[in-house]
Amino acid sequence: MILELLEYLTTACPKYARKLGYLKEAIAIGARQKRLAGAWAPHLEQSQTLIREAIDQCGRRRTALVLGSGLLLDIPLAELSRQFEQVVLVDLVHLRAARRQAAAFANVTLAAEDVTGMAADFDFRVSSGWQGDPVPDPTVFLDQPDIDLVVSANLLAQLPIFPAAALQRRTRLDGEPLEDFCRAVIAAHLAYLRRFDAVVCLITETERAALDKDGAVVQRQNALYGADLPGRGTQWNWDLAPLGEVSRTHAMRNRVAGFRDISTR
Ligand SMILES: C[S@@+](CC[C@H](N)C(=O)[O-])C[C@H]1O[C@@H](n2cnc3c(N)ncnc32)[C@H](O)[C@@H]1O
Repeated sequence: MILELLEYLTTACPKYARKLGYLKEAIAIGARQKRLAGAWAPHLEQSQTLIREAIDQCGRRRTALVLGSGLLLDIPLAELSRQFEQVVLVDLVHLRAARRQAAAFANVTLAAEDVTGMAADFDFRVSSGWQGDPVPDPTVFLDQPDIDLVVSANLLAQLPIFPAAALQRRTRLDGEPLEDFCRAVIAAHLAYLRRFDAVVCLITETERAALDKDGAVVQRQNALYGADLPGRGTQWNWDLAPLGEVSRTHAMRNRVAGFRDISTR
């Protein structure tokens, strides 16, 4: 707990990432993963396998762009570094553990960027009367012509969470309009990914389920608010919170879909 607080106080990240809650969440993910390493391992291995398969699809291997790199738990970083001239890790928050790993490779760099195009000026937007509509079209890195692989790494379903919470708090947006906002953020990321002239690997939660003590599903939520994916992809479960982690009576399980290449080149 003290180490986590220290990390919160000493991690450099954009001011808005701290304010909107991304830094706190990144530190919480690290702590959760340590506690639940066994339960999370199959999901992290599946994600890494899919990214390796995406690397195999790349004819040219100049720059690999990893969106939502986080703690690099699901990223085969050594492999990416070996196979590509440059690897760019993109996240709003790069914690010390990720910085340390990246520093071991001369061709790996970190970029503290928001891939939605709305977090940096969120305050300004809201104070100017914006209520989540329209959602901006993200453009970051689209002008970089040497990108041959883009990986969206367990990021898509996370994108609306903090902006939606802030909108709800500050504008009282709720119910269906708030869900429409979440769906639009997700659709904008999918459209953004398709604008790269590269192999585009997508790994995302598609469903969040609550399970009772017998393992029966008692509640399901579409993690993408009904936004369309390009097919079923390769699917697996992620035991996010086994019994006892968030509740003594319920466990949480995510359904995940992985796509080696969703590009339309
Ligand atoms: C579930 S984690 C992904 C896990 C990560 N790939 C790993 O292996 O640790 C989602 C990541 O997306 C990042 N993220 C969320 N919204 C973002 C945004 N708008 N721009 C960039 N990164 C974002 C979070 O900071 C977090 O690190």
